[in-house]
Order: sequence, then C-alpha cells, then structure tokens
Amino acid sequence: MNKQIVTPWEVKGDINYNKLLKEFGLSPLNELPEVFNKEVLFRRKIIFAHRDFQKIINSIHNKKKFVMMTGLMPTGKFHIGHMILAQQMIFYQKLGAKIYIAVADLEAFHARNQSLEESRKIAIEQYIKNYIALGLKPENCEIYFQSSRSSNGKKANAYYRLQNILAKHATFNEFRAVYGDIGPGKMVSALLQAADMLHPQLPEFENLIPVVVPVGVDQDPHLRLARDIANRIKKPAFIQLSSTYHSFVPGLKGGKMSASDPTSYIALTDTPEEAERKIKKYAFSGGQKTVKEHREKGGNPDIDIPFQYLKTIFEPDDKKLEKIYEDYKSGKLLSSELKELLAVKVSDFLKEHSLKLKNAEKELKRFVSD
Ligand code: TRP
Repeated sequence: MNKQIVTPWEVKGDINYNKLLKEFGLSPLNELPEVFNKEVLFRRKIIFAHRDFQKIINSIHNKKKFVMMTGLMPTGKFHIGHMILAQQMIFYQKLGAKIYIAVADLEAFHARNQSLEESRKIAIEQYIKNYIALGLKPENCEIYFQSSRSSNGKKANAYYRLQNILAKHATFNEFRAVYGDIGPGKMVSALLQAADMLHPQLPEFENLIPVVVPVGVDQDPHLRLARDIANRIKKPAFIQLSSTYHSFVPGLKGGKMSASDPTSYIALTDTPEEAERKIKKYAFSGGQKTVKEHREKGGNPDIDIPFQYLKTIFEPDDKKLEKIYEDYKSGKLLSSELKELLAVKVSDFLKEHSLKLKNAEKELKRFVSD
C-alpha cells in the first residue's frame, strides 16, 4: 500500500475513499430524490459524499433558483477524467441551475508557473470547446477568467473586494493547517478560489442563493477553508456552501491519470484508432493470466480498468452493465473481449464527438468574450 497523500496540489498513493470521508468529515450520499437517478454518476455512487447537499435537494424540490459553481485549472489535454465534471454541469443546467465556471488562470500561474496567455489558450481549445461539444448551453451559464472577472466594473470590483474581505477573516495558521507548506502565491490562489465559490451570492451577482460545488475529493481543503471563513463573516452574509465529492476516474494503467503521460488517459481529441490501441495495449486488466485460468476462476471487474470506464462513462444501460459484470466475474467474458467492448464504445463516441467539436468552434463566442 502506498502512503495516501491528498491535497489540492498533489494526489499520490492508493486512495481509500472511506478513510478520506472520515478524515475530511464528509457525509455519505444516501437516498436521493428520483431526478438524480437520471444521472449515472449519482445512480452508480461515483458521486459518493457531500456537505450540506440538502439545501440543493430542497431547491430542486421547491423549484427555487440555485447555482452550480466549478473551476478548471487549464493544463494539459481534456481527457475522459474531466468528463465527470462536464457531465455534472450539464445535468445541473438541465435542472435549471445557473452555471458558474472559473478558469483558474491565476491559480495555474502560481501553482504551475503557467502564463495567463497559455492558460487562456488551453482553457478555450481544450476545456471550453469540449464542454460545449458535450452539451453545455450558453443560456444560464457564465464562464470567466480569474484574472479578468468581468467587463462590468461593479461586478469585477465586488469579486476582487470579496477576496480581500476573505483574507481579512483568515489566519496564517489556518492556511498552514489546511495546505501545509504554503507561499504567498498559493495563498492568494486559495483565497481567490474561495471568492470563486462565494461570490455568486453577492448582490452584484445572484444575491443570497444556494451554491453547490461538485469536486474531486482532493479539492475539499479549498471548501473547508471557504466554509470556515464564510462562517465568520457577518456582512455580507452567506448561505453555507454545498458540495459533492466524486471519485477519480482511474488512469488506463491504474493509478492516476497524468497529463504528462498520454498512455495514462484517453483524450477527447484522440483518434478512434489511437484510443483503441491505448485500451488494448495499456489498460490494466482484472482478468487471469491464461484463458484456461480465466474460464475457471473468472475476472475481477472491480479492479479492471475497462470495466471501470464502462461503469463511469461508456455504458449507461444498467442491465447491460450488470450482465458484463456477471459474465466477466464468471469467466464467460474474456479480458480481450471486454477490452474490445470498451474499444468499440469509445471509438464510436470519439467519432461523433469530433464532429461536435467542429460545431463547438462556432458556438464559442456565445460562451467567452474577448
Ligand atoms: N482548484 C481547481 C483545480 O485545480 C480550480 C478551481 C478554481 C475551482 N476555482 C474553483 C474549483 C472553484 C471549484 C470551485 O482544478
């Protein structure tokens, strides 16, 4: 077992989600109202924990407005691990939520030493175009860059002023407790991220409104900090943030997907042939060493990467997924056959997606201004 390290700027080792849940003080996501079952990620418990989610459930139930807020750090290629968040944006948007998306170009500047120009290019070419191609709509959706919040002065001022109000209510020890070793650059990024999450509630934006921030567990420290600070501020008052937590999509070879290793992920701009080759060559299999042994003992779908990809993204039909699970476990379905099954799904998806990406180009200006 590798030592588990989970911080906003580093994820390492084997991740034990139950342990994280306890350590971070998250609540498990239990019974949810029927609408959530439409989304595979909720239905299959890939989104597995929350803080204060009841507010959002109530808003949906009472047909009241709420905001879904998220951010992206524009580095590397957009890959299937990023799809989980895009899926949630689209799901909440269909439910009537207003979507706020922060391009964390200032965070990338401080934490990754990447220029603002480079971040803008990557955010648009890789992330935003893919969001559009996956089905994000321009109505009820605000995408902004941290370094340039709004051309409306009142709005921009309110956002950067909030970062300063937050700083006023935070302590250095608190930063150290949440982030460990932290320098000035990362500190302002953490404060700006808290401003990202809280500013939709300012009068210049939506006014007091429930906000849900769906994140991977590694981002929880940011939420803890934002919640703690928000609690201390009397003016302006905030409704406490809601958040949900999803597990990571594992890399092709198991472990984490890494932007610097293209054989660890499938990018949404990979050609169908490339993706197929990667799956067949690199995907970690839960099958046995020989066909004979596999027929006798069966495979282990719970650690099999092709099965995990079908479960999280590529096989929305519960009955079909169940059958694949049983057949693989019993040894009826071979590893090579399971890989083939995934390869076909992925290559069909990529073919269609590449057409949608071309269309997304034309839609871009409805999402981001110059
Ligand atoms: N820190 C996030 C990341 O590394 C990006 C981010 C910036 C963010 N602001 C946010 C995420 C607000 C959620 C909410 O990807």
